[in-house]
Amino acid sequence: MDGVTYPGFDGFLGTRASLVLDLLFLAMFVVVLVLAWSIIQVKYRRRYQLHKWVQIVLGVVLLSAVIIFEIDIRLHGWEDRAAGQLGGHPAADVWTALYIHLVFAVSSVIIWPITIIQALRKFPNPPLPSDYSGRHKTWASLAAADMLLTAITGWTFYYLAFVR
Ligand code: HEM
Repeated sequence: MDGVTYPGFDGFLGTRASLVLDLLFLAMFVVVLVLAWSIIQVKYRRRYQLHKWVQIVLGVVLLSAVIIFEIDIRLHGWEDRAAGQLGGHPAADVWTALYIHLVFAVSSVIIWPITIIQALRKFPNPPLPSDYSGRHKTWASLAAADMLLTAITGWTFYYLAFVR
């Protein structure tokens, strides 16, 4: 931290980021690891029911995270923290990183619910491979890649805005 009193709660990672941003920064590591684990379970161990519930819980957790994050940002902003001073302006590359991140974050918010709802509607219950498998693999691979890129670009934004 740099001695400036920013709006909202400070985080615990020792950077200029807020508490919510620190939690999200760390949560994305957990999300990526759990997602990879869930895909390994379905692909190599055929644990379809486990995969289904892990993906539903991940979807709900991610949606809650987006809502909490939006509230924090609307209430307290982030530009002061990124600039390192009250009333300051973030550097140009911070805005570029944010826009790149938003492409993946916003498309994930669209693709994830589509993937989950379609899988719930089209796979049998309890879930098993079916005619829908091919299309699920297409959407689901896109959804998984989008989430990984959301995490990577999110960490990059965090570093550029609040660490450097
Ligand atoms: C965003 C959410 C989801 C993601 C990212 C995802 C990801 C994946 C991926 C990447 C595969 C392919 C694994 C392989 O290459 O063999 C897969 C397979 C599968 N998923 Fe999902 N999944 C999601 C949600 C769901 C849900 C909600 C269900 C159940 C209703 C489900 C049921 C299945 C089944 C049954 C397979 C096996 C298909 C087969 O091997 O024929 N998935 N999932």
